[in-house]
Formats: sequence, C-alpha cells, structure tokens
Amino acid sequence: MPLLTDLSLPDLRVFHERVRKDYDAFCARGLKLDMTRGKPSSEQLDLSNALVRLPDNIDHQLADGSDARNYGGSPQGIAEARDLFRDVLGAPVEQIIVGNNASLALMHDCIVYALLKGVAGGEAPWREAGKIAFICPVPGYDRHFAICEEYAIEMIPVAMTGEGPDMDEVERLAANPSVKAMWCVPKYSNPSGETYSDETVRRLAAMKTGAPDFRLFWDNAYALHNLTEPRREILNILEVCEKAGNHDRAFVFGSTSKITFGGGGLALFASSPANIAWLVASMQKRTIGPDKLNQLRHVRYLKDIAGLDQLMERHRAVISPKFEAVYEVFDTHLEGTGAASWSKPEGGYFISVDVIDGCAARVIELAKQAGVALVSAGATFPYGKDPRDRNIRVAPTCPELSEIELAGEGISLAILLGVSEKLLAGHAKEETTSSD
Ligand SMILES: Cc1ncc(COP(=O)(O)O)c(C=O)c1O
Repeated sequence: MPLLTDLSLPDLRVFHERVRKDYDAFCARGLKLDMTRGKPSSEQLDLSNALVRLPDNIDHQLADGSDARNYGGSPQGIAEARDLFRDVLGAPVEQIIVGNNASLALMHDCIVYALLKGVAGGEAPWREAGKIAFICPVPGYDRHFAICEEYAIEMIPVAMTGEGPDMDEVERLAANPSVKAMWCVPKYSNPSGETYSDETVRRLAAMKTGAPDFRLFWDNAYALHNLTEPRREILNILEVCEKAGNHDRAFVFGSTSKITFGGGGLALFASSPANIAWLVASMQKRTIGPDKLNQLRHVRYLKDIAGLDQLMERHRAVISPKFEAVYEVFDTHLEGTGAASWSKPEGGYFISVDVIDGCAARVIELAKQAGVALVSAGATFPYGKDPRDRNIRVAPTCPELSEIELAGEGISLAILLGVSEKLLAGHAKEETTSSD
C-alpha cells in the first residue's frame, strides 16, 4: 500500500470510496465493543478468585498479635502487607504505607494535603504560593490531569522522547518556583508504554528545582506488568534521590488494582521517613485504619514476591495475545499507509496510536459510529486538549480475544476513512485557493 499522502487525487478518491464501503459494511454488523479503559478482563479477575475466601474464618491474627477484624494498628497498614511489597516499591517496611483500594485516592490526598498544609519540610501550604503548576509528560494519564484540573493546578505539558520526558525541557521548567511537582509513570507509561532510562531517572532526582518543596509523583502503576522478555527495570527513585541529596523528592505510588482486583485491591505508597510521617499524620485524622482484612487476604494469597511474579505471568499469558492481535490487524490494514503509527509496548495496558495531525477526534467519532468505543479525543492531554489532535489510546485488555480482532478492524477502518477524508478536504482547499 503506498503512502496515502502520495496518492494522486483520483487514486485517493477511489481509495476513499473503497474504505467507505468497507466501513459501512462494518457498521452494518451492529457490534458493541469497548476499548476505552485499561481494565482487567473477567478472565484476569478470575485468576484471583481464591482471594475472596481468605483469610478463612479462624485466621485473623496478625503477626503483632492483634486482630485484623478490629480497630487498631497504624494507618500505615499491616506489617505483613508492607513487607510483601518491599521489593516492588524499593523501600524498607517503615517507609511503606499500604492503604485501601485505589492509589489514585492516595495521589489525590497527597495533593490536597500539600495544598492545605504544605509538604514535609515545606515552608507553607502550596495554595499560599498563589498559582502553582505541575509538569505533565504527554501523552499521559487522564485521571492525573483531572485531579490537577479539579484543584486549579496549572498543567504544563512536556513531550515524551522514547526515554521518558524531554529532560532539557523538564529541567528548564522545574527551575520556576511556582512549579511544585511532576507526574511520572516511569515504567510502561500510560499510554505510550515508554520506560524512563537510567539517565532520565538520575536527572529527575538531581535537577535543581525553583521550589524547595518540589515533589515527583512517581506513579509506578505498571511496575510488574510485563508483556515481553527481557523485562524492563528502572532505577530505584528513592535511592537515587537520596544519593542526589534530595531525600524527600519522590512520592512513590503503586497498587494491586491490575494484579488482583480493580475494585478490591490495595494501594501502595513509599517515600522518605519524613514524607511517611507527613502522610500518616494526615491519614490518621481521616481514618482509624485501613481494611486490614483485605491486606491479610492479599498476604495469604500472594505470599511473597515469587507469588506476585507467578500471578503476573498468568496475567501476561491472558493479555499479551490481545496486544499481538491488535498489532496483526493494524499491520494488515494500516502498514505502509502513513495514516497512523502505533506503539508496541513491552508492558502496561495500552497501545498508543498517533494518526495524521487533525484526525484523532474524527477517527474516534467514526469508530464510535462503527460500534467501537474509544476514550474521548484529547483525553491523554491536560485539559482534554491534544494540540495536534492526533493521539488515540487503545486499551485491548478487557474485551475477549475474539472481539479484539473485530475492534482492531473497526479502528483501522475509522483511521483510513478519517485520514482519507482529511486528505481529500486538503486537496479541495488547494483547488479553491489555486482558482482564487
Ligand atoms: C498510570 C496509572 N495510575 C493509576 C491508575 C489507577 O490506579 P488505582 O486503581 O490504584 O487507583 C491507573 C489505571 O489505569 C493508571 O494507568
């Protein structure tokens, strides 16, 4: 297939008509496929069904002798659960908090506490600084951006480079005292799948910041979510920050939402002793304690890092064929057309597709009409605005494998139709201008 941009106008018209027919035939099938959110499939959730029955009726005693069913203990979570995630978070148990489901809630709360009270070692609540900003690598995670928008925190986009965010630009921006923090998804980023290089991590840990109370929101949501071998590893941000003399710079987040249950997992947080004391002090006012039974349940089920690894391998066996199925369909329909490029991530939950500039919103609309729901246009950018209108996040994990091929076909046809429409419109415009 030649590049669509190289086709003569008559050839482009023929191509467009052919795609339109295929697209109409696809629409007529009346399918309903959902590729919007990066959710585990039922088959993945079933992998942890045994968890629900744990701990059994006589197993409630924690290592410290207390009863997991009762009040008591620390908001930091039970010691056994903190120990289980030591290697994942790269921190000793004293520097770990295990909370209820949703690491997003911990991120949200850290921001609210920082705004209202300031962070550990900070001179004042962030809200007193007037206008504050976060650095936001793009494309990125829409729910991170939604928290900033909710609290009127300015978002400054920075492009990803394949090695993580553009560090020259990050360092330049971080020098501004009103820039208080940065979102980072360092491993298998949502949605690009990129992993931060060692050089990127070192520069983030060591860079000079205008705000002395600057924080990295290090959301390592996909720490264990490998799709291929060899697995990618990232440097331990807490250690690297400490070495650089910026002990309190990183807030590390994670969760078991895509390991056990999205609606019934554990949220994880690791940081310096000062940051842990800071967060626990606020958590203590908010709750008497987390769901310790669910923490014990996870400890009994997952057991240790080897148990976690085995479970993640079973997830991989379920989801990696789904990613492969999407690549195959895209290769068949789109390869060589220049209409789109797409990531082939080594881990995580997403395929990031870039179409020709100015086409993403139209493609998403066409896919919807064809029965394939995709996340809304611009969702991967702050304020929901993709300046080039080109990025589309595809989430292949939740539908059945049999549905994936169909969804991929629907997306491919929507891309070819949307892009050829745009190119035809460009030709029409040229004709009008040259006849003016
Ligand atoms: C980067 C990232 N962080 C956090 C989350 C949500 O995590 P949790 O379920 O622990 O709130 C997601 C979910 O898709 C995500 O992609």
